[in-house]
Amino acid sequence: MHDIEIKKIARMAVDVRDRAYAPYSNFKVGACIKGESGAYYTGCNIENASYGLTNCAERTAIFKGVSECEKRFTAIAISGAYDDFPMPCGACRQVMTEFCGPDMPVIVVNRKGDYRVYELGALLPHSFDKSQLK
Ligand code: THU
Repeated sequence: MHDIEIKKIARMAVDVRDRAYAPYSNFKVGACIKGESGAYYTGCNIENASYGLTNCAERTAIFKGVSECEKRFTAIAISGAYDDFPMPCGACRQVMTEFCGPDMPVIVVNRKGDYRVYELGALLPHSFDKSQLK
């Protein structure tokens, strides 16, 4: 992925982080995923007083895309509000695996705007997927 394209999707993930609804953890996350159609879908984390119902930013973005008819995605950026890079949780890695290839870039962006790029397959190796359903 070209640097200019990384910066564009990273910016969208940073901007949507403001909309996070995180009154319980105060840990705001933003995400932006690019569909195969070329469209971008943003998402933030959405918490609930019943804590376990929280939806992560990445899954909000993915579900928005799938509900708009995207079947596959080509890149995701995740933005956090701290110096540490915001690594996606296991549940989000599994949901990404459903709709994204192992070579999809996962771009994590910290508060300073520094970023790192991982491949999904490196974040969730030997994953369970539909090919194993008989
Ligand atoms: N969170 C995300 O949005 N994405 C992740 O991959 C990890 C965690 C959110 C969920 C919760 O609202 C807050 O961060 C603290 O766990």
